[in-house]
Amino acid sequence: MHNFDRIINREGTDSYKLDLRDAYFGTNDVLPLWVADMDFAAPKEVQEALAQRVDHDIYGYTIRKDDFSNAITSWLSRMHSWQVGNETIEFTPGVLPAIVVAIHEFTNPEDKIIIQTPVYPPFYSIVTDNDRVLLKNNLVETDGYYNIDFENLEELAQDPKTKMFVFSNPHNPVGRAWKRDELARIVKICSDNDVMIVSDEIHSDLCLFGNKHIVLANEFPEYAHQIITCMAPSKTFNIAGFSTAYAVITDKKVRTQFHKRLVGLQMHMGNLFGGVALEAAYNNGDAWLKEMKAYLEENILMVDAFIKEHMPEVGFVVPEATYLLWFNFKAWGLPQSKLKKAMIEIGKVGLNDGVSFGAEGKGYQRMNIASPKFMVEEGLNRILKVRNEVYKK
Ligand SMILES: Cc1ncc(COP(=O)(O)O)c(C=O)c1O
Repeated sequence: MHNFDRIINREGTDSYKLDLRDAYFGTNDVLPLWVADMDFAAPKEVQEALAQRVDHDIYGYTIRKDDFSNAITSWLSRMHSWQVGNETIEFTPGVLPAIVVAIHEFTNPEDKIIIQTPVYPPFYSIVTDNDRVLLKNNLVETDGYYNIDFENLEELAQDPKTKMFVFSNPHNPVGRAWKRDELARIVKICSDNDVMIVSDEIHSDLCLFGNKHIVLANEFPEYAHQIITCMAPSKTFNIAGFSTAYAVITDKKVRTQFHKRLVGLQMHMGNLFGGVALEAAYNNGDAWLKEMKAYLEENILMVDAFIKEHMPEVGFVVPEATYLLWFNFKAWGLPQSKLKKAMIEIGKVGLNDGVSFGAEGKGYQRMNIASPKFMVEEGLNRILKVRNEVYKK
C-alpha cells in the first residue's frame, strides 16, 4: 500500500506550486492548494526506473522506441478499451504544446476556435497568442452541475471562420466526465460544420465514483479523421515535470500533417527521463493509480461532508472526474477581488481564483485536493475561518 498521508516537504525543489506563490498570491504564506499537480510521491515503480537510468551516467540524445508506444497503446487498451496501433502515437512535450501544434497546422491566423468556459486558463491564451479568434461556448450551470449549451455551440460552429473546437474531457475546472449523448451531439455539430476537434483528455484516467471516461475518437470512429486526442501520464501519476505527453491520431493524413508541423517546430525530441517515467507508470502503475483514486474519493467525500456541515451556503458538487474542486462562494456576497484577498489574507489558503478560468468563474475558487488528508482538512479549516469573518447570514 502506498502511503498517501505522508507529508513531503517540497521546499527547495523549484516547485511551481510553492515557488510561484509569491507571484500569484503576493505572499508565500498560503497553504498551496492550487496548481494541478499532486503532493503525493510518484509510484515507486517510476522512482526505481528513473533511479536505474540515472545510474547509467550518460544522458545523451535519446530516441523513443517501440517500448514507448507499446506502453501507451497497452494502457489505452487496458484503461479505456481503445485499441490503436503504435503508429497512431505522436510524442509531444505536453498536452498544451500538442494543441498548439494542431492550431498551427489545421487553422490559419484569424480563424475562430471554440472553447467551453469556464475553462483551464491557457485555453484562452493558446488561441489568442497564436492570432486566432476565441469563441466562447459558455457552459450552463444548474445547482452546481454543468451542461453544454448545444444551440450556442451549433451557432458558433456554423460560422464559416470556425475551424476548431478545443475540448476538455473530462472538464477542468467543472469536473464533468461528458456522457455519450453529449459527445454524440458535439461530434455531430462539429462534423456537420467541418470543425476539427482537439480533444484534451489529460484527465481521462481520473474519473471517480464509478464514472467512466469515454474516449471521443474511440466512441465515434467514423469521425476520427476530425479528432486529435491529447493525453499524458502527467496528471495521472504526478509526473508533469517530465514534459511528456502524446497525441493519438488514427487518421493517417491528419497524423502526417501533425507530425510534419511538430518536427517543423522542433518539438519532437523530448527528454530521456520522460520516456522512462511514462513506460514505468503505464506498465507498472495500475495498482498505485487504483489506490490513489480511492484516496482522492475519500478526500472529496470529506470535503463534501465538511461543506454540508459547516458552510452549507457554499455551492459544491462532487466532481465526476479530476482532483480539482470548484466552489461557488456567491452566497458570501463578496466582490471577486475581496473574495480572493480574504482567502489569502484571512485564510492563508492558496486557491485558484475563479475568474482566471473566465468571467463565468466570478464568485468561484478552485481547490486542488490531491494532497494528504491533513492538508486538505487544514485547507477547509482555513476557508471556514474566512467564512466566519466575512459571511453574514
Ligand atoms: C485540461 C488541461 N489541459 C492541459 C493541461 C496541461 O498539460 P501539459 O502540462 O501537458 O501541457 C492541464 C493542466 O492542468 C489541464 O488541466
